[in-house]
Amino acid sequence: MKFDHLFSEIKLGDLSLSHRIVMAPLTRCRSSQPGDIPNDMNAEYYRQRSSAALIISEATQISPQGKGYAFTPGIHSDEQISGWKKVTDAVHEQGGYIFMQLWHVGRVSHSKLQPDNTLPVAPSAIAVEGQAFTEEGMFDFETPRALDLSEIPGIIEQYRLAAINAKKAGFDGVEIHAANGYLLEQFIKDGTNKRSDIYGGSIENRVRLALEVTQAVTDVWPGDKVGIRISPTGKFNSMTDSNPQAVYHYLVEKLNQFNLAYLHIVEKFGEGGVEVEKFDFEQLRHTFNGAYMANGGYNGESAEKSLSNDKSDLVAFGVPFISNPDLPQRIKQGASLTTANADTFYGGQEEGYIDYPSMTAG
Ligand code: PHB
Repeated sequence: MKFDHLFSEIKLGDLSLSHRIVMAPLTRCRSSQPGDIPNDMNAEYYRQRSSAALIISEATQISPQGKGYAFTPGIHSDEQISGWKKVTDAVHEQGGYIFMQLWHVGRVSHSKLQPDNTLPVAPSAIAVEGQAFTEEGMFDFETPRALDLSEIPGIIEQYRLAAINAKKAGFDGVEIHAANGYLLEQFIKDGTNKRSDIYGGSIENRVRLALEVTQAVTDVWPGDKVGIRISPTGKFNSMTDSNPQAVYHYLVEKLNQFNLAYLHIVEKFGEGGVEVEKFDFEQLRHTFNGAYMANGGYNGESAEKSLSNDKSDLVAFGVPFISNPDLPQRIKQGASLTTANADTFYGGQEEGYIDYPSMTAG
């Protein structure tokens, strides 16, 4: 198959991307301890993958409160900023681009991961099903504490400071994580948001926090260096919404005021694509005024088809980038792909992280 569309240039703000294959954010839980600090091994991992048109960093906690998994990195301390600088330098040395994904997990955490062992926070006191991954092992999720209205400005401030820190760390831009059941999505979807103040109830109220966070982040970065990730049909982390089409159409219309670089859509998430709900992603594509980045189970062929049918402008690949550091070249040449070992996705050291070979340089 020819991949004329996949390997065509695109401008993303003032960045000239040489093709359309983006590396999706991937949680790998390998920061240095104590302090959740990015290290030389993390820099090597990203360096190996810098032939992506754009790398989006693994989800990165904007504050100690925003942390939900052991060993994930943060962007709220000077040591973390210095650690990330090694990563951005490594990617830039190879001619690549990297955005940081800004993450607050909300209820998807545990008091063992929280400052002073307090309960995680959320729009409403409703627990997520399952278990949290802590330094001491797996523990059932607890019922979170509902945020007081007076605490919301502090949450927005966490995003603003993290956006500033990402700039200090040398990133080319940032992605706001509003997907996959974390804090911003907990506000957006009505299964998790039972608030009766201006952040709950109507669609307008539920998307308010995501829009205010986008405002704060675009006060720090120009809009064309900011993307946002959403998962309208996602059920991951026990998420539900009674009318996602209306919610996300409204959100995307409102996002247009910020002239963002891209809208990153998780169309499918998880093994085999468990999302069965009908959803008109093309409505969002036609509503949004920036680039549409599709994600979820794509391969070279389906990505080329999506681009050539004008369904997307960029396609983000996650798991294939774990085990194929030179994924763009492999797709271009029709080379076989290495299958990723799921046992080494989260935590550990070099194995399953920086030891997947490229076809060319070792
Ligand atoms: C995960 O750690 O499993 C994870 C993190 C961020 C996501 C999705 C999954 O957006």
